[in-house]
Amino acid sequence: LENLVSVEALSNKEVMSLIKRAGEFKKGAVYAPPEQKYAVNLFFENSTRTHKSFEMAEKKLGIDIIDFEVSTSSVNKGETLYDTVLTMDALGVDVAVIRHGDEAYYEELIASTGIKLAVVNGGDGSGQHPSQCLLDLMTIYEEFGRFEGLKVAIVGDLTHSRVANSNMQMLKRLGAEVYFSGPEEWYDPAFDEFGTYLPIDELAPLVDVMMLLRVQHERHEYYGNFSKEKYLAMHGLTEEREQKMKEMAIIMHPAPVNRDVELQGTLVECERSRIVQQMTNGVYTRMAILEAVL
Ligand code: CP
Repeated sequence: LENLVSVEALSNKEVMSLIKRAGEFKKGAVYAPPEQKYAVNLFFENSTRTHKSFEMAEKKLGIDIIDFEVSTSSVNKGETLYDTVLTMDALGVDVAVIRHGDEAYYEELIASTGIKLAVVNGGDGSGQHPSQCLLDLMTIYEEFGRFEGLKVAIVGDLTHSRVANSNMQMLKRLGAEVYFSGPEEWYDPAFDEFGTYLPIDELAPLVDVMMLLRVQHERHEYYGNFSKEKYLAMHGLTEEREQKMKEMAIIMHPAPVNRDVELQGTLVECERSRIVQQMTNGVYTRMAILEAVL
């Protein structure tokens, strides 16, 4: 791989190879690059998991990290993303992990003949979140050892979710049956191409994976009359709904979780929850991604 900017660009074979390599890293495999590699993590939007698990992955791989804080950089003097990345490339950085609010911000970077470093997308607006998608796929594969025929629900703030965008495409392509649920105003009919929209009460006893999405208040223009209690009751995973899930079904959420909104707070660490495992798998998945682009 030269870059990793969207999952659509990956073949099924490449996806499976990254998932399997992440599994090997989890079991202790090591990567020894022939020469010292350098990474910079450019986070223009807030992040805990993606930022810190890329950092952990870089450290585990022996990659040197060039510290970069947007707030103390020349971005504050008006320097563009393009010129910032061009500068990092000129300094000798091998890979830039970037999270940015603009959708498809990466297009001019990967089209540039002046920029040679690898670009890894850590999330672009409401566009894509490929490393999250791959860690989600790794977590599902670890659990079931397949995607074919699995019933996966993606529930919640679908229109604003880059996680949903990446996951619905890849899960369908890998043979899973995708279902959607959540407020109708956060459902785009274009999603019909990838799955079936149903009320959460119908999905709870049906699916193998219940993937909940964070309500992204920061991307909503109006949420003054949003009621957490009403959302949980109508669209969230309550303990009552959880008890109707199939015996082997699992709960996932990319996090951060709004406890008692997308799911009842007590379910975050319940037996069938894989939310903490997703975060751990994030480190190994990102090791596999970094190795692949380097
Ligand atoms: N899941 C995820 O992307 O979390 P962060 O925003 O904390 O990176």
